[in-house]
This record gives sequence, structure tokens and C-alpha cells, in this order.
Amino acid sequence: MNFNPNLLDCAPAPIAEAWSWVNNPDTGKLIDMCQAVPAHLPPQSLRDYLGDAICKGEGASYTDIRGILPLREALADDIESRYRGNVNADDIIITAGCNQAFCSVIDTLCQPDDEVIIPLPSYFNHLMWLSIRGVKPRFLSFDAKTALPNPQQAAALISPRTRAIVLVTPNNPSGATYSPECIEAFYQLASAHNIALIIDETYRDFIDVNLPIHGLFEHREWRNHFVHLYSFSKVYSLTGHRTGAVVAGPALLEQIKKVQDCTAISAPHAGQLAALYGLQNLHDWKLEKARELQVRAEAIKTAFEHPDLNYRLICAGAYFAYIEHPFNTPSRSVVKQLIEKFDLVSLPGSYFGPKQEKFIRFAFANVHETHFNEVVRRLIGSQQEVF
Ligand SMILES: Cc1ncc(COP(=O)(O)O)c(C=O)c1O
Repeated sequence: MNFNPNLLDCAPAPIAEAWSWVNNPDTGKLIDMCQAVPAHLPPQSLRDYLGDAICKGEGASYTDIRGILPLREALADDIESRYRGNVNADDIIITAGCNQAFCSVIDTLCQPDDEVIIPLPSYFNHLMWLSIRGVKPRFLSFDAKTALPNPQQAAALISPRTRAIVLVTPNNPSGATYSPECIEAFYQLASAHNIALIIDETYRDFIDVNLPIHGLFEHREWRNHFVHLYSFSKVYSLTGHRTGAVVAGPALLEQIKKVQDCTAISAPHAGQLAALYGLQNLHDWKLEKARELQVRAEAIKTAFEHPDLNYRLICAGAYFAYIEHPFNTPSRSVVKQLIEKFDLVSLPGSYFGPKQEKFIRFAFANVHETHFNEVVRRLIGSQQEVF
């Protein structure tokens, strides 16, 4: 058999690879900050509701390609109340998770050798899909002082083959939340050049609700250039139910329906029911979980102020902390040794694009804040070792 050379060039799935370095997961000593997964189950009320619904036979069938109407209506209302602006059910297609949303949008916009502008560090699955599809990433460099991408740099990279700019905010892996002004500048750039601004906002529910996110949905013509990607995975602890969304204008949605029909046909029906239950019933639960994560982000920042620590916290927020390690060694080797000798599981910066060897990512949402001092103690211990 011969394989697609684009796939052969693509790095292996990162989480599985990092876990393959763990020899002994059951010692009780492991601190797992590898994958971004909620540390808790969905609330009992959601589990009871879904169990009953499935027993009654609900959720067993395909749905409309776009997803069930009540879910699209509820998500449109949720977006309007969080962002203001104008969004309705016809602007939404429910997908099998946010990763499928991204893949489908790229397939809708790009052909091989087209270009997409994407800031470093970049979410690894975005990079993998671009690579598999033969779409060329044009990277924006990482400014470790601000952790914000630079729209002027993006302007200089736009070519006749540029189809989209991709942002992730709050960011995976850096944890940075981009300012409304920064996002607006990217929107203006995209609309001036008639390209798409794709923003993956998987972690948007973890931003303090008193802070504005961005005002893009308030633009009368947002549908011409803005593509919002969303996930129900983290907010309601539904990672296994594979439910996300694309929010975009009618021209893009008309085309993406063809991709959806060939790949998922429709997003998992049971996941859609669970997501709808979440939107209708779990507002307070969602806020409580977001507050817990905000406490956790502050706690990791405080733990990293330890005077003996040579690892530097670059940024922390939502689910992630991006950390500069003190060694002149590739990040993979640092992560491997942290696993083998210190039972700390994280991900190497090299998974997040070029020039990230100095960094490692902690998905701190998985770990209760009472463990952060122990994390720092082990990191300090690792400084004595020759990596
Ligand atoms: C930025 C980003 N987008 C998408 C996803 C995947 O979301 P979903 O489970 O909805 O496919 C993740 C999960 O880690 C993520 O970090």
C-alpha cells in the first residue's frame, strides 16, 4: 500500500505520543497535564436527562445536516447575549466537535498550495490538518512579552493564495486571551483582503463574563468574513459526545454542508441533545466552573513565582500555561525526562509549530491547584539534572 505523502510528512498524534513515554501510569505519583480535558464529569442533572432521553430512543437517528433547530436557536441566543450583535439559527451548523468544524471550514475554503496565516504557537491539530490537505501555513512569530499576534505582520504575509487567517482565543497552547482590539484589527485586515478570519473560541466560556470578548458579531457584514468555531466539549464536559459548531455566513454554510454530508452526515444526535440541555439549564454551573479555572490560573502564576525556579511562566489562562524551560535541549527531550524522572506529563513546544523548542505546555485545568506547589518542587528538582 502507498500512503498519502502529506500524511506521512505529518507528525504523529501528539497526545498519544506523549502518553507512550509514560511507562508506569499507576504509581499514584503522576501529575497529568498532557491533554486539555475537564477535570470533572458533566453535572448529574445532565447525565440523568441524557440517560432518560437515550432510553426513550431519542438521539438514535441522524439529524438535519445543520443540526437540530432548538440547539441552533439556543446557541444563537447564547452568542447574542455574550457578544451582542446579530446571530440566528440559520448562521449555524452543528459539527462533530470543534476539530471537525475547523477541518470542514478549511476544506470549504482551501485547495492544495493555498495559504493560511496562523500565529505561533499554533494548535497542533490545526497544523496537522493544514499539512494533510497540502495547505501552507504562513506563521506569525511569537512575542513572548505580550503573547499576542501582530496584525501588521499578518498584512505583510498576505498573498494571492491566502485564503484565511486562523486565530485561537483563549489560546491553545499559550493560554493568552486576545484583546478585542487585536481581534478587530485582524477582522479589518481580513475584510480588506476579502479573506476569512477563522477564530476557534473553544475556550471562550472560561473568560471572565465581565470582560468583553470581541465585537465582531456587531458588524453588519460579519457574515462576509468572520467564521466563529465553537466547542461544547469543555464547557459542559462533553468531550466524548463530539459536539461543536461553525457560525458563519450563508455562502460558506451552503458549501460546508456538502463536506458535512460526506463526513459526519450530521453531528452526533445524543451530543446535540446534551449540548441543548447545557445551554438551557447549566448557565450557573458553567459560571462556577469558569471561576474555578480562573482561580487555578492565578494559583499556577503564584506557584511559578518561586525564587529557585528557573522555568519561566510565559502566560497562563483558560486551560493552559506556556512555560519556557531552562535547558539547551529540544523540548521533546525535556518533556520525556520530566515524565520519566519526575512523573510530570506535559507537551513539548515543538508540537505547536517551528521555533517552539524553548517551551513546554501544561494543560493545568486537569490538576487541582493544591498540586501546583508540588509541580514547582519537581521542576526545581529537575534543574539539578543534566537534560
Ligand atoms: C483550540 C481547540 N480547538 C478544538 C479542540 C477540540 O475540540 P472538540 O472536542 O470540540 O473537537 C481543542 C481541544 O483540545 C482545542 O484546544
